Amino acid sequence: MKEGNIIVPLPEHQGDVCKSMDVFYNPVMKHHRDVSVAVVKKVKPVRIGLPLSGSGIRAVRIMKECGYAPEVYVNDKRSNFMDVVHHLFSANDCDLPIIHNMDANVFMQSVKHFDYLDLDPFGTPAPFIQAAISSMRNGAILAITATDTAALTGTYPTVARRKYWAKNIRTNHMHELGIRILIRYCQLQGASLERALTPIMSYSKDHYYRIFFRVKYGKKAVDKLLDQHHYAQYHNHQLTISRYNYGEGQFLGPLYTGLLQDKDFLQSLDNEWAKKLLSENDVFGGVDVYAVCSSLHRNVPPFKNLLKMGGTQTHFSERVIKGNVEYVLRELTHS
Ligand SMILES: C[S@@+](CC[C@H](N)C(=O)[O-])C[C@H]1O[C@@H](n2cnc3c(N)ncnc32)[C@H](O)[C@@H]1O
Repeated sequence: MKEGNIIVPLPEHQGDVCKSMDVFYNPVMKHHRDVSVAVVKKVKPVRIGLPLSGSGIRAVRIMKECGYAPEVYVNDKRSNFMDVVHHLFSANDCDLPIIHNMDANVFMQSVKHFDYLDLDPFGTPAPFIQAAISSMRNGAILAITATDTAALTGTYPTVARRKYWAKNIRTNHMHELGIRILIRYCQLQGASLERALTPIMSYSKDHYYRIFFRVKYGKKAVDKLLDQHHYAQYHNHQLTISRYNYGEGQFLGPLYTGLLQDKDFLQSLDNEWAKKLLSENDVFGGVDVYAVCSSLHRNVPPFKNLLKMGGTQTHFSERVIKGNVEYVLRELTHS
């Protein structure tokens, strides 16, 4: 198999990609790794940590494609990990990274001082967040992936409450809310260590959520982030911020209500997906056009008519418009 120019010396896997594979390699996650490579290329971190490395494919891609020579540390607890990495790197004629074969939390706590850390677990990143945050340098970038989107979107409310200390429900806003719940959870973990985690790129794709945080040391920066934790109110198919959990409609969260993207950062990346995120309104909530039309018993009009006054659809749901809610509601009720 190949991923771009990289040889992946694994037998083609029959059936679904799953945890029980001898070596975990998921070709569908190429897009996920493309974004990592674009970020590393731009930021040029000195010390890179990949605590849950799987096949090592992300490490070899970073080392071959980033255009400089960072210190790359790979780790995975699988017993065959050392052999797998040696095999992959020699097939690609690449110098070896620094290899560890232990529990990810022990790895992060023993190596430390990372400038870029990419946490790519099966399911929730929650068990690794504290160790990750405390192993990072001031100004570093922490990339987090979560594939337990069912919990974060409210399919299992008791799991969401236990794991992420918040509530969500299944609507067309659920992915934005799920990401914001996850961001708040990570920020609270950072707060207890006096580390401020500001999202600089956040998105939902396929079966996963991904957030890149800038990690800054300092109490004041932490307090500023905590001031942006509120509830969301879902009422009349609109999602807005609410300081308190009372009143009409459904109350969701608590969650992070601030910016999800750093536009300058997105602009600086050589990556098509970053450009797509850049084109979207980065504001909280919006209006579910399909749900409004259904409650008005009318057909959904062409979206181009609704996107005139600066509104945009976003990758979270093409049924939701952000940025010009009053205009959209006027068009839908009066046209
Ligand atoms: C989703 S895969 C990683 C995929 C990889 N990052 C890539 O780009 O292909 C998760 C990996 O985490 C490893 N893992 C799970 N729990 C771990 C732990 N506590 N410590 C170290 N590795 C762990 C698994 O063996 C698996 O290879």
